[in-house]
Amino acid sequence: MSASSKPEPLLEVKGASKTFRSRRGMGAAHAVIDASLEARPGQFVAIVGESGSGKSTLARMILGLTPVTTGSIELGGVDLTAMNRAQRWEYRRAVQAVLQDPAGSLNPRKTVRRALEEIVRLHHVAAGSSARAGAVSEALELVGLSPPDAFLDRFPHELSGGQRQRVLIARAVVLNPRIIVADEAVSALDASVKAGILRVMMSLKERLDVGYLFITHDLPVVKKVADYVYVMKLGRVVEHGSKEQIFADPSHPYTRTLLAASPIL
Ligand SMILES: Nc1ncnc2c1ncn2[C@@H]1O[C@H](COP(=O)(O)OP(=O)(O)OP(=O)(O)O)[C@@H](O)[C@H]1O
Ligand SMILES: [Mg+2]
Repeated sequence: MSASSKPEPLLEVKGASKTFRSRRGMGAAHAVIDASLEARPGQFVAIVGESGSGKSTLARMILGLTPVTTGSIELGGVDLTAMNRAQRWEYRRAVQAVLQDPAGSLNPRKTVRRALEEIVRLHHVAAGSSARAGAVSEALELVGLSPPDAFLDRFPHELSGGQRQRVLIARAVVLNPRIIVADEAVSALDASVKAGILRVMMSLKERLDVGYLFITHDLPVVKKVADYVYVMKLGRVVEHGSKEQIFADPSHPYTRTLLAASPIL
């Protein structure tokens, strides 16, 4: 990327596969097969597909938690596996995860303040303690935990499930990410809490130009929030298109089945 005109980085998955081999070498699970997709800041991209279709494995590959077997994950044209230390750090800041189970993702012994300030310090996104505190408060405001003072000194068990999920989003947002990978981030929440979190995510898209890779089996949610949709089946991306295209005119038989089985029709 040139320093003068700074194009928003594109996240690209190019022909990526992941094969899990059993320890004894007997058999292999082809979790993701030749998958390609794109995500960019300001865009809400959904990945849907039945259980076991490889969505979480793909998310872990994108987050650098699971090495790809073949193919590549690239940000701004640079392959994740070819990045130098500085580029890898930048990738880890720019591509954030918000996963399911906020209870398990937050350290029960750390207050909201401590959890967020630590991440700010680690990534050097604000210098000095008052700038760090300001960044943390701002992130809490952005996710609707307002006033921040009411939440800063709470431990995870002193928050509701929905509030914990908001803290996880704040922990991502405080780093000013370009893409948030959200794997079933709202699936376990009840309808009104879910709607609130989705509103927060939509507002972050507008205000910060953050993009999402939003993994879910919840098609009504996809219909509400997505701009673009990828459909996975048995490890492969079998169809992709704008939300309008996918819902109005699904071309793959699997997508038609998926839509027919969902409560929105
Ligand atoms: N660490 C692993 N070792 C072996 N096989 C694995 C591993 N992780 C995932 N798999 C297999 O890869 C396939 C895809 O799993 P994955 O978790 O990516 O699916 P998913 O689409 O996220 O499903 P769900 O909707 O249930 O979350 C499954 O067959 C799974 O058993
Ligand atoms: Mg999964």
